[in-house]
Amino acid sequence: MIDTQEIEVQRTEHSRLSEINFKNLPFGKVFSDHALIAKYTNGEWQAPKIIPYGDIHLSPATSALHYGQAVFEGMKAFKNPDGEILVFRPEKNHERINRSAERLCMPKITEHIFIEGIKQLVSLDRNWVPNEPDSSMYIRPFMIGTDPFLGVKPSDDYLFMIITSPVGPYYSKPLHLKVETEFTRAAKGGVGFAKAAGNYASAMLPAKKAQNQGIDQLIWTDAKEHKYLEEAGTMNMMAVIDGKLITPPTGSTILAGVTRESFLILSREAGYIVEERPIAIEELISVARSGKLEELFGVGTAATTAHVAKLSYEDETFELPPIESRKISNQIGNQLIGIKMGTVEDVHNWNMKF
Ligand code: COI
Repeated sequence: MIDTQEIEVQRTEHSRLSEINFKNLPFGKVFSDHALIAKYTNGEWQAPKIIPYGDIHLSPATSALHYGQAVFEGMKAFKNPDGEILVFRPEKNHERINRSAERLCMPKITEHIFIEGIKQLVSLDRNWVPNEPDSSMYIRPFMIGTDPFLGVKPSDDYLFMIITSPVGPYYSKPLHLKVETEFTRAAKGGVGFAKAAGNYASAMLPAKKAQNQGIDQLIWTDAKEHKYLEEAGTMNMMAVIDGKLITPPTGSTILAGVTRESFLILSREAGYIVEERPIAIEELISVARSGKLEELFGVGTAATTAHVAKLSYEDETFELPPIESRKISNQIGNQLIGIKMGTVEDVHNWNMKF
């Protein structure tokens, strides 16, 4: 049973809504009027509150700033043609933030704070949910350890917040990706499966080096041998070879994407053969070389379905087939975005609607 009790709201006195150009939204730079905040202290979560969006006050000794107890999530809210708000499978993100929290020795967040918090926060700022194509309201819950203490130990106190941001596309064009074989994102037994802030920090230098060579993003490979494809940091990776949809299995080094899982379910239902199995870079490159890599794409909440136009590996760069010719990524990608936007029937009851 979800505890649906009303969350206390302190409304902003100065809405910024009229200042926003919804026709030209960047990703993640504009924030809606309100945020949800909850504090964990004395071993329990205190009542959450919705407050005006704004800066927060933290001690310079805040443990998350030094030792990285910080986890987050990402979801999107859309408006369906009837003007109702849809949020895609938020219970999955709730489960995942709790798995991330457990790995980083942080407390679990209650369903009331996470799910009901999203519902009441997004309801209050429903006019911030864009109607424009390719736009949505990105929902970013996060939790940090807040003890002002420089000893290395799990924080006693935590801050959980949800902020929301009307966004345009994360990637605005098909991508040029490079297979990374020097740096490592995650090793077995580490925190790769968690949505931990530090995973993103450690990816920045390798990504920047690649961007300096005109590459958009990296495809990470396993830490041990750099022989197997893992994920791309902002999205899970999928390939189509011989008409089969292939993606690496999730494990301790790959984020269990909600978009990934949903994409696989829809693909199986559509009758495609889906293989969750390790993908050797050697295999990927050999099919790319012989022109048999039919599709390569990433899937994620922010990224949606992100087609890969070019793939680089060591000294070679492959131009992949034209985007319009790609069957599975286009068909299932469109079906999935249609479900999220309420234009395709949601037979699985995936959307939370309010
Ligand atoms: C998401 O897809 O929600 C992500 O978290 C990816 C990125 C913006 C960090």
